[in-house]
Amino acid sequence: MKNIILYSSLTGNTKRVAEAMASIMPPGTPCVSVKDAPENLSDYDTVFVGFWVDRGTANKEAAKLIETLTNPHVVLFATLGMYADSDHARESIEKAAALLPNKEQLVDGFVCQGKIDPKVIEMMYKMFLPGSAHGQSPERDALHKSAETHPDEQDFANAKEFAKSVLAKLQA
Ligand SMILES: Cc1cc2nc3c(=O)[nH]c(=O)nc-3n(C[C@H](O)[C@H](O)[C@H](O)COP(=O)(O)O)c2cc1C
Repeated sequence: MKNIILYSSLTGNTKRVAEAMASIMPPGTPCVSVKDAPENLSDYDTVFVGFWVDRGTANKEAAKLIETLTNPHVVLFATLGMYADSDHARESIEKAAALLPNKEQLVDGFVCQGKIDPKVIEMMYKMFLPGSAHGQSPERDALHKSAETHPDEQDFANAKEFAKSVLAKLQA
């Protein structure tokens, strides 16, 4: 089984989750940014693709890669500002999975919360009216506060367990 982990990460959250997963993979498993992905990925049985959620789906760089994958197995993982157990988190993985050329390729998906760049929060609060979906409100402030500490040690532990279970599933 040849695996590779590819991630797209602006502020480092997704990269750190990717590295946690890499730490339990067989030694020598590549873990690189999508930007540094090998041109030919066809050697790999399984491609793990990590992305940050951008407007409810995989960010553009990751989305472009996902659309081109022809490997038998693809594992998706993501970080996002919203709560990990929210519909938005689940739907973000589903939307990214829908980009795959063949839905049978998807083995599983993993999400965890990731802190949002404070500059982005400031911009949103300026752009949207207070109390609107993305504008400032007690709920929004609470969400951002809860995201501030993620990904945390528990998220990394969950990511490792997830990766282990995927490997076990693929080897069964
Ligand atoms: C332009 C932009 C759009 C975003 N859109 C969403 C979104 O739709 N839903 C969400 O939950 N988080 C959203 N986020 C938050 C990021 O997905 C989150 O902070 C992520 O952990 C960043 O990962 P990174 O550090 O790997 O770049 C957005 C962030 C940015 C900068």
